[in-house]
Amino acid sequence: MAGGHSTYTPSSGIGRWVDQRLPLPRLVYDSFVAYPVPRNLNYAYTFGGILSIMLVVQILTGVVLAMHYAASTELAFNSVEKIMRDVNSGWLLRYLHANGASFFFIAVYIHIFRGLYYGSYKAPRELLWILGCIIYLLMMATAFMGYVLPWGQMSFWGATVITGFFTAIPLVGEWIQQLLLGGFAVDNPTLNRFYSLHYLLPFMIAGVVILHVWALHVTGQTNPTGIEVKSKTDTVAFTPYATIKDGFAMVLFLAVFAYFVFYIPNFLGHADNYIPANSLKTPAHIVPEWYFLPFYAILRAITFNIGPIDSKLGGVLAMFGAIAVLFVVPWLDTSKVRSAVYRPWYKLFFWLFVIDSIFLGWLGSRPAEGVYVVMSQIATAYYFGFFIIIMPLLGLIETPRRLPNSITEAVLAKTKGSATVTPHSAAAAPEKRA
Ligand code: HEM
Repeated sequence: MAGGHSTYTPSSGIGRWVDQRLPLPRLVYDSFVAYPVPRNLNYAYTFGGILSIMLVVQILTGVVLAMHYAASTELAFNSVEKIMRDVNSGWLLRYLHANGASFFFIAVYIHIFRGLYYGSYKAPRELLWILGCIIYLLMMATAFMGYVLPWGQMSFWGATVITGFFTAIPLVGEWIQQLLLGGFAVDNPTLNRFYSLHYLLPFMIAGVVILHVWALHVTGQTNPTGIEVKSKTDTVAFTPYATIKDGFAMVLFLAVFAYFVFYIPNFLGHADNYIPANSLKTPAHIVPEWYFLPFYAILRAITFNIGPIDSKLGGVLAMFGAIAVLFVVPWLDTSKVRSAVYRPWYKLFFWLFVIDSIFLGWLGSRPAEGVYVVMSQIATAYYFGFFIIIMPLLGLIETPRRLPNSITEAVLAKTKGSATVTPHSAAAAPEKRA
């Protein structure tokens, strides 16, 4: 672990006995008590902890919901209504789970944007970042399949539209679609396999999260300056400093979550999903959940053929490409300076990227016609341009601001109100932690 030598000393006989056989308390102590974290972490760094809590909320509520849910096309819709009306606190479980998915995504988007802003993906944290991207993919698959389970109109038609896109893939497309559906249309076999996978994937996410946090503890956290830890004065102990800060952020986040659950539980959902699935009646607008909307806009932005690639396949490739590009971000960013704090131009393009992503989300909720299509095409071009053109080029031509020599120097300069900093370009160099 990045903290190096263990300082754990069991305080009781039982503690010593356990420590010699299975040093789990030592692992927890070294990782979450004595573990040194940079002293200048801000609230953007609390979302990893918030995500861990949300994963627990989703698994706990999901497991209890599953005790009352019936995965068959005949029973699914009514079993959910039964949960809402007859099961003790069933309404609470369901609203926690449904809104929990949305809040999980809010937290993960802030977590990813934080990573892009502070250059968290840069060496030596590439694997940490890639594990995060895998978690994100698994989250999307889990949420997509979970939304099908209540077997409402949006469940059915959403699944029909999304699985239909796979047919655009040459040669194997139809085979993949049939494998997903368990037949030729969304039906009972589809519901059964989606239920099975929806139960399985969160545990796989939990497994990847363990690897993610392991990788984090090997490299140590970044911090807003982007300069690596150099001496003991750059860090504080995880407990109490980070635990209190993370705990406070969790309480605030959960308070907003509770407001949604108790006061506006259907605000983020779609009214059509309270109508039982009907394969003979297509809803006027088929829209996915809000967290998929930017990708839905990208999918529909490709209305033209590109050489041998027709527009349908082009849309599917663009949609998957929008996620795939995240995996190679550590190699697209050529800047020697890690944090956007010292990169004025990158900062500007980053915030434009945030606005662009939100704009794409809004476009995904609009019908794919007229001016909305043109706007989606422009926003999609910026989305890819940010990663493929701006990131590599800017790193080569941008003149960064002067960096402080160390985290401590940056913190002290801030408290003094004036910065006495010297030019330094070692931010991207992975120094050894003290
Ligand atoms: C269930 C989902 C996730 C959980 C529970 C989780 C958990 C954590 C935790 C506890 C931390 C340390 C605290 C912090 O920096 O906020 C962290 C850091 C990090 N996470 Fe995640 N994470 C998740 C998803 C993701 C995703 C989707 C990505 C990127 C695509 C990602 C990338 C990172 C990176 C790069 C760091 C290091 C940050 C730094 O030191 O600058 N994580 N994560």
